[in-house]
Amino acid sequence: MTLGRILTAGVAAVVVAGFALQASDNAAIAKDKKAKAAQAAPLDTKGDASARPWKRYDRWPARDMSKYNTLAHLASPPAPKDPRKVPAGLTGNAESGAKLVADRRRGGSCLACHVMGPAGGANLPGNVAPDLSEIGKAGRDDEYLFNYINDARVYNAETVMPPWGSHGLFNDQEIMDMVAFLKTLTKPAVFKTELDDPNKRPAPVEKRDNLDPLENPGMWSVEKAQAMWKQAAAGGKSCNTCHSNPTAQFKTWAASMPKWEPRLNKVLGVEEFITRHARATTGANWLMETDDNRAMSVYLHFLANGTPMKVDTTSAGAKAAIARGEKLSHRKIGQLNMACADCHGLVANKWIRGQWLGEPKGQLDHFPTWRTSLQTVWDIRQRFQWCSVNIRGDELPPDAKEYGDLELYIASLNQGQKLSVPGIRH
Ligand code: HEC
Ligand code: HEC
Ligand code: HEC
Repeated sequence: MTLGRILTAGVAAVVVAGFALQASDNAAIAKDKKAKAAQAAPLDTKGDASARPWKRYDRWPARDMSKYNTLAHLASPPAPKDPRKVPAGLTGNAESGAKLVADRRRGGSCLACHVMGPAGGANLPGNVAPDLSEIGKAGRDDEYLFNYINDARVYNAETVMPPWGSHGLFNDQEIMDMVAFLKTLTKPAVFKTELDDPNKRPAPVEKRDNLDPLENPGMWSVEKAQAMWKQAAAGGKSCNTCHSNPTAQFKTWAASMPKWEPRLNKVLGVEEFITRHARATTGANWLMETDDNRAMSVYLHFLANGTPMKVDTTSAGAKAAIARGEKLSHRKIGQLNMACADCHGLVANKWIRGQWLGEPKGQLDHFPTWRTSLQTVWDIRQRFQWCSVNIRGDELPPDAKEYGDLELYIASLNQGQKLSVPGIRH
């Protein structure tokens, strides 16, 4: 067929179609189209989208922290109102104190936040908190130092320093040993290299090409999900049955997520959408935090790469969720009694031990992300869970409503950031 004939045939078809349609039909079709466009994606609204009872990941610390606040409930003992008297006869051992301030097993060590003179050394001290290298000549008495370490909230209600004593991380003797050590500190810290000095240590720069499968094994998820797309579930349907051109159809969708979902009365993220939409359509049961769910999440985000994040912040449900999320970001949780905002807001762009604390902007655009140190993909909910477990708090199941509120709140701070998934992180 020549080009001319193809064109003529095309025009003829349009003319015939146009001729056959009456104005009323056109209106009906327009209405139909609108209804179709507005058609909500089917969701299975019953049951949970992740395993219950929620079981912590293998190789994560197994400890019962139910005595302390989570994002879902308050449990921590209240802050003391008055300073304690140093127990009679208690004396400290500075040598033992020098070891305790660097002991990472109980909450990450003092050096995570403070430079402490000679105890810095190879510990990559942080600069979230004041340098205490000369605290020994600052005129602080034992009772003050003892109480500051025991529970700094008696002097500063807003402190980010964990209540080491009242939350049971160190006993009185150990606290007194650290007091004795602090009193020996009278000289500015000397750093062997610039890397040891948190004020000179350069901020990390990620130079790897995250979309190159040779550099980012997270890209394998894309291939896996492309195969899953066409795999028929037990009932004979696959994603492809209804979406035969995902590249075109979902070119921007993931950048609009998470969103307030009235049918579930919660914020719905991409991962929970996958579980509930698959159950309702193909019948596959891709629970959150399974390899299948993560791969599909990487893929759906990948399809929208380059799209600036644009989540709905205007509906009444979204507004209320964002307000709840912001409040949750200030809730002190876990044995270390810290809030998301303690590390990601107030003290952003500083070092907490060897880890750089970035600002909230730029935190979401690369999720799900490949973790080089763990050789696995993490979605955003797993990151939230780890940030809770890391401050010695119990995590919530990944589909918890509270995580949805937090995710939408953080997304609202990240509007306009372009998706680049799968990311790559240490
Ligand atoms: C999460 C960060 C963090 C960690 C970890 C931390 N601190 Fe602090 N600390 C602070 C901050 C911030 C201050 C500044 C005052 C405030 O905000 O309460 C402070 C203040 C202090 C002060 C009072 C200093 C002064 O000049 O009055 C002492 C003493 C102290 N810390 C000791 C310790 C000891 C000992 C440890 C380890 C057991 C420790 N800190 C761990 C954040 C931290
Ligand atoms: C039986 C048909 C059917 C199947 C099978 C199906 N979907 Fe859908 N899907 C829909 C409908 C209907 C919508 C809503 C209208 C639209 O966006 O096309 C939708 C919407 C979506 C959306 C956009 C969501 C939104 O809020 O607009 C995504 C993403 C999606 N589907 C992914 C999938 C994936 C992944 C699978 C495989 C598990 C799948 N779909 C299987 C019918 C289906
Ligand atoms: C003790 C400090 C601390 C607390 C408290 C904390 N985080 Fe984190 N968070 C980190 C560190 C360290 C990282 C890894 C460094 C990085 O990637 O920014 C991180 C990473 C993240 C990231 C990924 C950032 C990225 O660019 O990949 C998100 C999102 C996040 N945290 C959210 C939260 C939320 C939500 C909470 C509260 C439930 C929280 N964090 C509590 C220290 C903390």
